Amino acid sequence: MARRQLRDLRAIVTGASSGIGRELTLQLIAAGAKVIATARREDRLQDLASAAAAPERLIVIAGDVCDAELRTQLVQTAAEKFGGLDLLINNAGIGALGPFADGSPERLRKVMEVNFFAPVELTREALPLLRQGNQPAICNVSSILAHRAVPAKSEYCASKFAIHGFSDALRAELTSDGIDVILVSPSTTESEFSSAVIEKSGRQPAKGKGAMTSAAVARAAIKAVQTGKHEVILSLGGKGLVWLDRLAPTLSDWLVARFGFDR
Ligand SMILES: NC(=O)c1ccc[n+]([C@@H]2O[C@H](COP(=O)([O-])OP(=O)(O)OC[C@H]3O[C@@H](n4cnc5c(N)ncnc54)[C@H](OP(=O)(O)O)[C@@H]3O)[C@@H](O)[C@H]2O)c1
Repeated sequence: MARRQLRDLRAIVTGASSGIGRELTLQLIAAGAKVIATARREDRLQDLASAAAAPERLIVIAGDVCDAELRTQLVQTAAEKFGGLDLLINNAGIGALGPFADGSPERLRKVMEVNFFAPVELTREALPLLRQGNQPAICNVSSILAHRAVPAKSEYCASKFAIHGFSDALRAELTSDGIDVILVSPSTTESEFSSAVIEKSGRQPAKGKGAMTSAAVARAAIKAVQTGKHEVILSLGGKGLVWLDRLAPTLSDWLVARFGFDR
């Protein structure tokens, strides 16, 4: 597969104020890319700009990715300031913890808005510009839970399964345009994700064992962008879970029901 150059690559990264998105931005800038980085917390985006190896190649725009005007602004800024767009990384995400029965329609809608509708609509907005880009790509940061769902994270799993299905369909649709659609599925990662969950109620899920660093996840995602690899499952445990679920779904169901809750 063609190797994509990072030097002068024009990118948008969502969820850039912490964790994986911050690392993606720093690593892309260090490799010579130009990045528009977005998230809601403006002070964190300013920190990011201070930490970037070449701040002149970074534009930060604060806003909520669920806001259609912000999404339009991101794409327009890429057109005006970079003269185009080669890479969209949909990374912003949130979680909620607790059994579905203890949740609410609002919790479900919020998780789906941030993790599914917002990245899908940003993709729609960016497609015309991406079509004119150099070796364009869309990279969706999903989760191992897009492949095997677990209890007490039903809304999150549903949102990540949805982005997985969307990515597979879009990849096929965009093959003739030469646009890669890359799905990156991390397992537990050190970031602010657990502290930022929008709700914790009722019985809690089992805690993941071991965690990758956000920097390692970002490195793997960027490698997939460079090589055009379409699907990346990052941890050995994650790969094991996916294969177990494919080969022995009944056993997999039993195991997550038995061990999926905190005890
Ligand atoms: N950490 C894990 O264990 C793990 C495992 C698998 C997959 N993932 C996925 O990895 C991605 C990145 O998560 P992370 O681990 O790096 O967590 P994180 O440190 O909490 O980062 C999440 C990012 O999303 C942004 N964000 C959240 N809601 C937003 C909104 N409405 N509008 C704009 N930005 C928003 C946050 O910024 P603001 O709060 O400043 O808006 C932050 O920059 C997510 O899609 C997550 O589902 C994480």
